Amino acid sequence: MGHKVLVIGGGGREHALAWRLAGSPSVAEVATAPGNPGTAELGPTLPVDVADPVAIADLAERQRCDLVVIGPEAPLVAGAVDELSRRSIPAFGPTASGAHIEGSKAFAKEVMVAAGAPTGGYLATADRDAAFAALESFAAPYVVKADGLAAGKGVRICADLTEARDAVDDALVRQAFGDAGAMVVIEEFLHGPERSVFGVCDGTNVALLAPAQDYKRALDGDGGLNTGGMGAYTPVPGFGLADVGHLEELIFRPVLRELADRGTPYRGLLYAGLVETDAGPKLLEFNARFGDPETQAILPRLASDLGELLWASATGSVDNVEVSWHDRAVVTVVLASGGYPGSYPTGVPIAGVAAADAVDGVTVFHAGTATDDQGRLVTAGGRVLGVTAAGTNVEAARSTAYDAADRISFDGLHRRSDIAAGL
Ligand code: GLY
Repeated sequence: MGHKVLVIGGGGREHALAWRLAGSPSVAEVATAPGNPGTAELGPTLPVDVADPVAIADLAERQRCDLVVIGPEAPLVAGAVDELSRRSIPAFGPTASGAHIEGSKAFAKEVMVAAGAPTGGYLATADRDAAFAALESFAAPYVVKADGLAAGKGVRICADLTEARDAVDDALVRQAFGDAGAMVVIEEFLHGPERSVFGVCDGTNVALLAPAQDYKRALDGDGGLNTGGMGAYTPVPGFGLADVGHLEELIFRPVLRELADRGTPYRGLLYAGLVETDAGPKLLEFNARFGDPETQAILPRLASDLGELLWASATGSVDNVEVSWHDRAVVTVVLASGGYPGSYPTGVPIAGVAAADAVDGVTVFHAGTATDDQGRLVTAGGRVLGVTAAGTNVEAARSTAYDAADRISFDGLHRRSDIAAGL
């Protein structure tokens, strides 16, 4: 008998997780909460307030779930895994104290340094004068971050000291980020390409996943505003599994040891954001959950059983799980609402998803979609769909992904045209 798995969340990442779990031999049934019209094709979708740990645990109990997989950071930071553990329900994801590595940039830096993992210099402070003094010891460009979760808006890269002081005042004086900006982190700017590596952790051991490259800016050529991610591809030339193996000893195991020593063993997905500097990889940040849309690109390459891997993270040793990969490339192109990442309309009818899904090698992951009262598929978020295609190499996957994406239309649709181009 396979496991009954409940996936918490309703974005593209959660659709990809539910899709891969539904194809896992160890999984009998996948429900999502709240899910979306894409996950509804895989199993039940159940209403839940994802910010409410008690509601999540009540739902898991009512549904008699064997495993709860938490997608987004908000329920993790709110303590969903703590509540599930109290009720002895296995959960994939860190406790609230583990998720603090994403919830507090100052805490993440403290852990990196204590673990001896490579990272840039920094100062974390709630004091304006101390922040101004610290800025003098760094060079341009200056990096000023709000300590807490600020919906992706809390990071400023500043060309000069005037701008950097203004960024400090934004957080500490004008309180532009509320409590999330009660402390600022001033960091050394790291020069080099940004990469990310995902590790599935069980408190001690880690299974590294094949890396994907995402595209954070809204416009072609990395122009425009920062977004949650406009596309992704894998494998990344020069940054495949063989190239990141050494990061297990350099970053992941020391960080896991440090967190365990603090009495908060880390289970779940550890997302290491790093910069490949001339002096080697240096950590930029941690996230406590899978990346979105990287997950949509990575999971179609996973040949082994995702359910078994996530179960091992929650309950046992990931070291006992064989993780294997298909020898193929995957490209995900995000279709976004007009105006994203600024304000955008919702309820806009979407056409062509079935036609895109029918293209050989293509899966369309839903992110910001809903079904309206007339039964039509409509937009319901900034990032609407992730058109994902597999191919024998990145160029073939890219060509198929754009061919499929061209079959989808909605008013205001915006996408980058250079995902996985020119590698
Ligand atoms: N795509 C970046 C992230 O998930 O944080």
